[in-house]
Amino acid sequence: MECRTLGRTGLRVSEIGMGTWQTFDVSGRTADAHCARIAEEALGHGYNFFDTAPMYGEAERVLGIALEERRDEALIATKVLESSARAARASIERSFELLRTDVIDLFQIHNMAGWREVTPVLKAFQAEGRIRYIGITDYRVSNYPEVLEAMRTGDFDAVQIPYHLGERSCRREILPLAREMNLGVIVMTPIAPLFNRNLLLGPLSKADLSILAPYGVRTPGQALLKYLLADPAVSTIIPATSKVERVAENAAVSDGEPLPPEACERLERLL
Ligand SMILES: NC(=O)c1ccc[n+]([C@@H]2O[C@H](COP(=O)([O-])OP(=O)(O)OC[C@H]3O[C@@H](n4cnc5c(N)ncnc54)[C@H](OP(=O)(O)O)[C@@H]3O)[C@@H](O)[C@H]2O)c1
Repeated sequence: MECRTLGRTGLRVSEIGMGTWQTFDVSGRTADAHCARIAEEALGHGYNFFDTAPMYGEAERVLGIALEERRDEALIATKVLESSARAARASIERSFELLRTDVIDLFQIHNMAGWREVTPVLKAFQAEGRIRYIGITDYRVSNYPEVLEAMRTGDFDAVQIPYHLGERSCRREILPLAREMNLGVIVMTPIAPLFNRNLLLGPLSKADLSILAPYGVRTPGQALLKYLLADPAVSTIIPATSKVERVAENAAVSDGEPLPPEACERLERLL
């Protein structure tokens, strides 16, 4: 697994990281253990970046158990989604408990919730050394003007946005500004977009992907990830999976040559 630098944090993050929305929102000993196997498999394949959130139900708790024994091999990114400073403080403290760690590598303001009130709270935790870096996320392209405004404050180290074959709006302003300000770029929903989970996999599963074989691409999911890795503005992509075998499939896109522009354009034409 190749790594890229997460902007000005200087952290080296695996090109493929792991999301946990839905897939780690499980309970019971068997389901917890299955997620721990997924995380272990991920570490074995060189993933070092794990993204979670209090909003993902049981995911922080389950990830906390999964990474407890191998905490030093993982970078943990979580989030806070509260509108007041007081509620944010309580949520952040709970994340430390559930994630079973004293230090969180990246704390992100989830969907920009109360970002003006919550940023000073994150900075206070950072000053105490409990949070290393802070970031923002938003799944709404319509909210990009506010994301850009927050980025321009200079308070944040990373931004997490949707980016995939069918959604490339971030290329207009978000990615150029992230580059100019040296912010890390984390890509959410690379395979199954939130409101149309079959938008990408549907057409790709019917397409002839043989021209991508020289780049190691064997499956529609790999084509989607390889496409995003061709963009040097991306620091890490965080597909989620509930299947142990998918961990290796997704990690493999980091091997071999990047897709050339003509292969990327061909994929774009498939949609
Ligand atoms: N506002 C925010 O901050 C925000 C919003 C959305 C997401 N996120 C973060 O971004 C992460 C990723 O987004 P997401 O989970 O919504 O979507 P995603 O990662 O694009 O899609 C996840 C789905 O894709 C399937 N999948 C994974 N690898 C595959 C492959 N190689 N081939 C075919 N299917 C594959 C998985 O199914 P199987 O289980 O069958 O493998 C899973 O159901 C989240 O988990 C979360 O951490 C953040």
